[in-house]
Amino acid sequence: MTEAVLRPHAEQQYADELALLSEHDERPRPPGWRLSPWAVTTYLLGATLPDGSRISPKYVGPRRLVEVAVATLATDRALLLLGVPGTAKTWVSEHLAAAVSGDSTLLVQGTAGTSEESVRYGWNYARLLAEGPSEQALVPSPLMRAMRTGAVARIEELTRMPSDVQDTLITILSEKTLPVPELGTEVQARKGFTVIATANDRDRGVNELSSALRRRFNTVVLPLPATADEEVDIVARRVQQIGTTLELPDATAGLDEIRRVVTIFRELRSGRTGDGRTKLKSPSGTLSTAEAISVITNGRALATHFGDGVLRAADVAGGIVGAVVQDPVSDRVIWQEYLETVVRERTEWRDFYRACREVS
Ligand SMILES: Nc1ncnc2c1ncn2[C@@H]1O[C@H](COP(=O)(O)OP(=O)(O)O)[C@@H](O)[C@H]1O
Ligand SMILES: [Mg+2]
Repeated sequence: MTEAVLRPHAEQQYADELALLSEHDERPRPPGWRLSPWAVTTYLLGATLPDGSRISPKYVGPRRLVEVAVATLATDRALLLLGVPGTAKTWVSEHLAAAVSGDSTLLVQGTAGTSEESVRYGWNYARLLAEGPSEQALVPSPLMRAMRTGAVARIEELTRMPSDVQDTLITILSEKTLPVPELGTEVQARKGFTVIATANDRDRGVNELSSALRRRFNTVVLPLPATADEEVDIVARRVQQIGTTLELPDATAGLDEIRRVVTIFRELRSGRTGDGRTKLKSPSGTLSTAEAISVITNGRALATHFGDGVLRAADVAGGIVGAVVQDPVSDRVIWQEYLETVVRERTEWRDFYRACREVS
């Protein structure tokens, strides 16, 4: 069944690795956990096990940061993953939930329209009208289900939820209980229950977390990749995985294009060329690793279906320009300047310069 699914959950896709780790894991597991904190960290960062079997890295970044995140989950505090868009907050949250609870699907998506019911519980109105309030008429939220089973609940984009809805989390996180006054009962969280929330740095100020709620969280900030090599490695790895799911032919070539996209994004992001000599203006978009991944994936689809299968400058030029020029006026000026002063001067980038002139 999973084979035809476009995007299997982490616990499905990596079921073999999780089983393998569980087998090798002799360290103590916190109550309700499928694995020890050590094994959860190994699942995220990858390793070769003593018997030679391999665990693939999911997150590429500082080990300490993952250790702090995992250790937090073993305490009574919740975890808040903070960072600019595209720094793998959602990705890390899914894999942590998969490794700790074996279930990454207990998820509430935060939006301006998220209601209290989607955080607490709602009602099946047909049953409510027919029978009055009853256990059967109650529709538990993913959070309530996580409390009942002692699992990790995920909240995406916490700061996009209205403040009063955010604040319904305070009782849940501090008292570990969810009262149901209509039934005169409550749901007490089982051991293993915790919350992983994500929020964007750039969103700050939208619905700032109240200080009461912030105190219930340990915050871990996910950084942008430290070096170009690291970023190239992340993009290459993810592009390969996504290509396999989409059944694009193997693209072992294309590393040069990946390096070029990463170089351009990093230079524009930091406002300086790689050699530090030329100052640049930064465009309004984030130009994150995640965007580099999608530019390359789109390029691969173009090369596969309309080209000769080899990823070339022309296949990525459109995607790059699209990612850089978000604001049609100011970003276009910045891009043109970069194109004429930086790209044009790099002799080995001739093909790319020409391709960009054609799309911009
Ligand atoms: N440091 C990293 N390690 C591994 N993958 C990364 C890293 N940074 C970004 N990615 C990739 O970027 C993609 C988007 O990440 P996502 O979790 O949606 O970002 P966010 O939620 O922070 O906006 C994911 O496919 C992820 O694999
Ligand atoms: Mg996200």
